[in-house]
Amino acid sequence: MSLVCVADFEEKSKEKLETSALDYYQSGAGDQLTLKHNKEAFNDLRIRPRFLRDVSNLDISTEIFGSKLKWPVGIASTAMQRMAHPDGEVANAKAAGRAGSIFVLSTLATTSLEELAEKAPETEKWFQLYIYKNRLLTETLVRTAEKCGFKAIVLTVDAPVFGIRRRDVRNKFSLPSDLKLSNFTGIQAKGVKSSGASGINEYVASQFDDTLTWKDVQWLVNFTTLPVIAKGILTKEDALLALHNGCKGVIVSNHGARQVDGVPATIEVLPEIVKAVGNEIVVMMDGGVYQGVNVFRALALGAKYVFMGRPAIWGLAVNGQKGVEDVLDIVKKELENTLKLTGCASLKDIRSEMVIHKSCYSKL
Ligand SMILES: Cc1cc2nc3c(=O)[nH]c(=O)nc-3n(C[C@H](O)[C@H](O)[C@H](O)COP(=O)(O)O)c2cc1C
Repeated sequence: MSLVCVADFEEKSKEKLETSALDYYQSGAGDQLTLKHNKEAFNDLRIRPRFLRDVSNLDISTEIFGSKLKWPVGIASTAMQRMAHPDGEVANAKAAGRAGSIFVLSTLATTSLEELAEKAPETEKWFQLYIYKNRLLTETLVRTAEKCGFKAIVLTVDAPVFGIRRRDVRNKFSLPSDLKLSNFTGIQAKGVKSSGASGINEYVASQFDDTLTWKDVQWLVNFTTLPVIAKGILTKEDALLALHNGCKGVIVSNHGARQVDGVPATIEVLPEIVKAVGNEIVVMMDGGVYQGVNVFRALALGAKYVFMGRPAIWGLAVNGQKGVEDVLDIVKKELENTLKLTGCASLKDIRSEMVIHKSCYSKL
């Protein structure tokens, strides 16, 4: 079968991955209603194309925090990528670099900050941070990211604990014994082991700081030299708090529908957040974006940049770095195609009135 869209890569990766890894990557929390909804909510948004606008010179480049990027799509932080392919995060980050995309390294990566910096020097790299109960450890992670040339800290705010992902509970998910969480030593490196439930949930419950408040965000903002981006924002109230507590950006995200089942699709909440914070901070989003046409919808509703999590995992599982390059290339071509077919020669031509909810038509 030739692989022509992200869904083809997801299908193919089922042949490549061990059940426990596939389940870990694919799962959402609870009944997985939000997981389904993240994707389906895009389908309720109708596109209003314009024509006869000279789209011969297409420019989809953008700029975030002073860095020039070839297009507005990057790779979200996903943990433990060496379960998908032996080259893991290195392959993923190199593919991002070739495509001109940002790569976000997870705290729970199976490649260290130092190794990634050395092996993917050309890639624009951000570091996703979980704040540990052990604050010294957390500080060391941030300082290492700064030293290694990472350009931003993505602070995940939606995870005092992890959501209940039933397949991980059934599988008693553990990190395979030949792998470790490479940013750590000792228990923090080898601790994703099940004592009967999901090993990752047990690890998080024992290590992550669930006392966090906006005071800790201020602590981080004052402590690091890098811009701090709050990831996991789902309401205008929290977006405003991120702004007022010194964050330079937010990622509208529901953690790939892995935390509370029942939260809205991210594309649904994007407009309220854009409206609340305007241009004062950079609004980005992720969740259920598997096609260029959905990147277009997100940009029209005000996102400045869009991340994909699982699609890169599927590419990685199918064919390592080349697989991720193929996935990014497919989505890029789909986005370019959508721009041309809607009369947009550049990202600034994508106007909010070009995407409206389907209910606007049924009212006519
Ligand atoms: C397998 C997997 C692991 C993830 N690990 C992390 C993580 O370590 N840190 C984090 O902030 N978000 C994590 N996320 C959430 C992603 O950063 C992102 O929000 C999500 O994948 C976007 O949805 P999508 O997979 O539909 O693109 C993970 C998501 C998945 C699917």
